[in-house]
Amino acid sequence: MSKKIPEALLALLSDGQFHSGVAIGEALGVSRAAVWKQLQKLDELGLTLESVKGKGYRLPGGLDHLDADIIAAGLTLPAVEILTDIDSTNAEMLRRLAGAEVPSGSVLVAEQQSAGRGRRGREWVSPFAKNLYFSMVWNFANGAAALDGLSLVVGLSVVEALHALGVGKARLKWPNDVLFEGQKLAGVLLEISGDATGLCHVVVGVGLNVKMRPEDSSGISQAWTSVERCLGQSVDRSEVLNQVLARLLVNIAQFQQQGLGPFITPWSTYDAFAAKDVVVSLGERQIFGVSRGIDERGQLLLDVNGQLQSFNGGEVSLRRVL
Ligand code: BTN
Repeated sequence: MSKKIPEALLALLSDGQFHSGVAIGEALGVSRAAVWKQLQKLDELGLTLESVKGKGYRLPGGLDHLDADIIAAGLTLPAVEILTDIDSTNAEMLRRLAGAEVPSGSVLVAEQQSAGRGRRGREWVSPFAKNLYFSMVWNFANGAAALDGLSLVVGLSVVEALHALGVGKARLKWPNDVLFEGQKLAGVLLEISGDATGLCHVVVGVGLNVKMRPEDSSGISQAWTSVERCLGQSVDRSEVLNQVLARLLVNIAQFQQQGLGPFITPWSTYDAFAAKDVVVSLGERQIFGVSRGIDERGQLLLDVNGQLQSFNGGEVSLRRVL
């Protein structure tokens, strides 16, 4: 059975109220039998459908359904498209770029991803209607070399939006992980297509945990948290995305003009590991030192026995004192 659920059905049931089979049929323009088939699919998305004789069907607690008008409110964006179900918004954006021109700033956002991609080949667990999974495309004229540091600017944009939303303890872990008290709140994955020395397209992929609960999170091996858990109150995912996109649009445009320079100080303000004893793991190698922020190319600076060394790869973590 296809998992594709009609938008109209999700929009109708998102209010958490009862809707009769007849009303649903009318909204979808289908027969009672077809309504039943569609309702069965909700189960596969992990949604609990309640059915009461004489009243109809409802999703208890409703559904925080993504809303394109709220997402784009006050922003100059060429396009925002909401997908109910996709393998990966990054993969889908790359497929579209292969077939046509996609204007800078176009956004794809999904209610769920069946094969969400994380960094280092990891999976990004993407349960239905819980978090934000989106990709924005940006076209750069001067090849991949001009992109040094862009992923740090993306992480910084997410943190700035989170601070504006009240998550004052959101921090950055080099290069672009967003943490709250050491737990992962958001991740960034940049993928590039086009000409590495000329016109290239960057797909800026962001996953931000908003409403995920432990029962939705099977498959995640690292410590994580969500915006709602950090704030202790519920939030509207579309409003959160609107704030994140607002920061991204301004910051990426400035990065395109001026490079990473103007962002080094703001990035350092939110550096989770500033002046901390850390270890950088490069495959089997481990380098111990004191974290000293980033340089103008976005590389990690480490004070190793009094000598400053820079790193453009590897995994940084706090050094455990035994
Ligand atoms: C990380 O591992 O920290 C990066 C995670 C990036 C996940 C996002 S979700 C939207 C976009 N589409 C994907 O498949 N991945 C990115």
